[in-house]
Amino acid sequence: MSILFKALLFLPIIFLGTNATIPTTKVTEEGIEFGIGNNFGSFQFGFADGSHQPLIGNKVGQPDFETDFKGKWELHSKNAGVSAMQLQLMHNNKAVWFDTTNLGPSALEFDPPFCRPLPSNASLTDCFAHAVEYDTQIASVRPLKFMYDPWCSSGGLAANGDLINTGGAIEAERAIRIFTPCDNCEFLENVAGLADNRWYASQHTLEDGNFVVIGGRNVFTYEIVPPNQLQFQPRLFPLPFLQETRDEKENNLYPFVYLLPDGNIFLFANSKSIILKPYTGEIIRRLPDLPGGSRNYPASGMSVLLPLQLSADNAAENLNVEVLVCGGNTLDAFKFAENEPRKFLPALDDCNRLSLTQENAQWDTETMPSRRVMGDSLLLPTGDVLMLNDDANFTPTLYYPRREKGKRFKELKPTKIARMYHSSSALLIDAKILVTGSNPHQFYTFDVKYPTELRVEKFLPPYLDADLDKHRPAIDEDKSDKELKYGQQFVVYFGLDEDADQVDIKVTMYPPPFTTHGFSQGQRLLVLGLKEFNGDQITAVAPPSGKIAPPGYYMLFVVHRSVPSRGMWVHIA
Ligand SMILES: *[C@@H]1O[C@H](CO)[C@@H](O)[C@H](O)[C@H]1NC(C)=O
Repeated sequence: MSILFKALLFLPIIFLGTNATIPTTKVTEEGIEFGIGNNFGSFQFGFADGSHQPLIGNKVGQPDFETDFKGKWELHSKNAGVSAMQLQLMHNNKAVWFDTTNLGPSALEFDPPFCRPLPSNASLTDCFAHAVEYDTQIASVRPLKFMYDPWCSSGGLAANGDLINTGGAIEAERAIRIFTPCDNCEFLENVAGLADNRWYASQHTLEDGNFVVIGGRNVFTYEIVPPNQLQFQPRLFPLPFLQETRDEKENNLYPFVYLLPDGNIFLFANSKSIILKPYTGEIIRRLPDLPGGSRNYPASGMSVLLPLQLSADNAAENLNVEVLVCGGNTLDAFKFAENEPRKFLPALDDCNRLSLTQENAQWDTETMPSRRVMGDSLLLPTGDVLMLNDDANFTPTLYYPRREKGKRFKELKPTKIARMYHSSSALLIDAKILVTGSNPHQFYTFDVKYPTELRVEKFLPPYLDADLDKHRPAIDEDKSDKELKYGQQFVVYFGLDEDADQVDIKVTMYPPPFTTHGFSQGQRLLVLGLKEFNGDQITAVAPPSGKIAPPGYYMLFVVHRSVPSRGMWVHIA
């Protein structure tokens, strides 16, 4: 890599920022088959007050509880010491985050002092922490050690709850690291574990608990990485699609990756997307292009796989699979931003949705209330999508996927803290959102308009309105099942101070993703099929397989007419 190229990467990247029958599908080993009508059965939605309620028998659920509350920001820590470029919530409710080891001094040192020799010159040392374990409840910080640079790396949780972090920069593009959540655990590292260089790659868990790690700078391959090993046999696949989607300024890094209900991988890069068989490298489908600009790094948009609504019999044909891709920038935006006189083109304000299960589906486009590049999009326990952070876009937006087109966006309470490039966020067990990081500079820099940001906030979405507390379910963790088995029924006990019908209750599951550069790797929300409701206990059906729910830890929420409980950690394998 040239020095010039490296220098460019340090640049602050600040772009200005009625009832309907849906087509049915069949998921097979060969991919997703399509059918319209009743070949495999159909599934109906009813609309009430703009929100949808599933019909069970003849019973329509009551409408969601409404609130005018636009959310609330709480300052959780004044100084966490390290800026959160990449962030992972662990199942002990501690968040692990880190930036890069080449940013010079951070605001946190080790006690007792610890200095690492620089990989480039062992007679030089670095005595600052570049990673922390942050207690999301009590705000305590424990510095973590890194030997090799995890800059713009990728990650995900293994089935046993370990963080598996892949790639990085400089000496560490093939690094793999394992972090086990415990009181004094540190990262274990192998600087040469991967089969190819992974800098700005995306990682996602597969049905068997292995990971795919896709792409990276000037790397047109992907590989399969086992979950708990620092050394393993390379399983590398060529992926010319990454070459096809590479612009002069790339625009295809940190691609959007989702595991689909048939075990295949949806991969979106720049403006194109495919469905890929992970263990053969075969492209089994090409989806329509998304016009309008670029959606991946450096012109990063936001993306989620919309919630998967499972049925009580876990029938695959009932699944509607849709992806959302919003914002980004024009193909040449980075070129304008890096060359003097620097010019920041306005970010995109479109939000686009594509069904992967509907025959001949096209991208369906709407307009967001504001423009976003490098924003975060998080799935909430309710199944709605929170869009936040970005190059000085202070106002979060809620996206309601189940509402009718034209009624899906709502702007929320703005923060006062700019969360620019290299910021991140995470859904927590109490259904609040952790918001942290931001550093559009080469070093930790404080005396400027958009400083390195070490403050940690929590955002309370509208569903945490105190006026809704009387409708809020409270899970009884002691009585409830927490170790789930694929396809098997399990019982969640909860208290609710009012009568409700089964159709008013949802049980949702969410694996904590690895978030960096606006993309939450491994994020998904499962809405479980329900069997029986007895006032204070609900029998739910666990997801049928690792294709729907890769093995590991999930937060489980009981949601009563859009008011979520505090979550409970469950494990499925
Ligand atoms: C390593 O750093 C030392 C101390 O600054 C310096 O004298 C030496 O030349 C460096 N070595 C290399 C290979 O750059």
